[in-house]
Amino acid sequence: MPAPPEPIAFIDLKAQQARIRDRIEARFKAVLDHGAYIGGPEVAELEAELCAFTGASKALAAASGTDALMIPMMAMNLEKTDAVFLPAFTYNATASAVILAGATPVFVDVRAQDFCLDPIDLERRIGEARAQGLTPRLVVAVDLFGIPADYEAILAVAEAQGLTVLADAAQSFGARWNGRWAGNIAPVTATSFFPAKALGGYGDGGAVLFRDPELYEASEQVRWHGTDTGRKESVRVGFNGRLDSLQCAVVVEKLKLFQGELDRRRQIAAIYDRRLANHVDPQAFGVGCGSGYGLYTIATDRRDAVQARLKADGVPTAVYYSQPLPRMAAFSPYAEGRSFPESDRLAGRVLSLPMHPYLTDAQANYVCDRLIEAVG
Ligand SMILES: Cc1ncc(COP(=O)(O)O)c(C=O)c1O
Repeated sequence: MPAPPEPIAFIDLKAQQARIRDRIEARFKAVLDHGAYIGGPEVAELEAELCAFTGASKALAAASGTDALMIPMMAMNLEKTDAVFLPAFTYNATASAVILAGATPVFVDVRAQDFCLDPIDLERRIGEARAQGLTPRLVVAVDLFGIPADYEAILAVAEAQGLTVLADAAQSFGARWNGRWAGNIAPVTATSFFPAKALGGYGDGGAVLFRDPELYEASEQVRWHGTDTGRKESVRVGFNGRLDSLQCAVVVEKLKLFQGELDRRRQIAAIYDRRLANHVDPQAFGVGCGSGYGLYTIATDRRDAVQARLKADGVPTAVYYSQPLPRMAAFSPYAEGRSFPESDRLAGRVLSLPMHPYLTDAQANYVCDRLIEAVG
């Protein structure tokens, strides 16, 4: 069996750190020198850079991607009788945020082709929710694995039904839709700077990005214990959702590398696309869209056997996610009597391949060679 050209990492944070270590150390020193660990100048700097990159009109740095989801939801004053629609096949934080914000999550099935929220099922579930006496308020569209959800259809359904759209772009910073960057597609977007994300920090972090600034002021208050600008009086219920100056400085520096790294992710993905299309079911996306390639995920039968074989061949892979959320103990009470066939099917078939900007073409081709052998 041929060995990989060099050991392959699923995600390589070390190579990137070596490129920017000096700049990060200088940034840390600057924060130690000015001493404004919370609310230092790096926070506004990051927020301005995020707006400049994505085209969003406003940004709020947040303590995590989960907080970035909860902040605008809390700004909407959601109640238990309010329905928030979200895909059944996503990371658990999307659903936890809805429940923590005080609303009722309503799961929607995903589509076979793009693994993202199915707008037809969304319409059906909105009707069911109304029939149950819930008030439909919000759709959380998740850009799963980096691919933008079908915003054309989702925004149309939301507008027709009077719902707001919040994009969960935790996995899709760098994605494109109709000439717009993730962060400037839906009225409000949450993203994550968890270290393994395409734009990650050296710790937890996230941001809320506003195309429509309507929820900005209330969100800014929620992030800082619900206080107004004097920071003394709580004018609404909030919490500590701030991102600290050190972490903001890291993300500012990483954002400078981002476009070049995204270009390289696209080159790796082009190798995978070209070589794998006839052997596995790739996650597809529409004309006018581009993935941020937070992950590169395919679907295949005999997934577990294929994964084991790849591991033996030195190809690290990961399964996101082996269970749809309605099958998990925390969320099953919100999905009683409902089925999510496509989410169930994907949970048994998805496999994420190594994806990072420091993979070589030879490594990407090795992954393809071994995967093609493994699927037979
Ligand atoms: C789709 C999705 N939503 C939300 C989150 C939560 O982000 P964080 O881990 O930064 O809280 C993640 C993180 O992996 C995610 O993948």
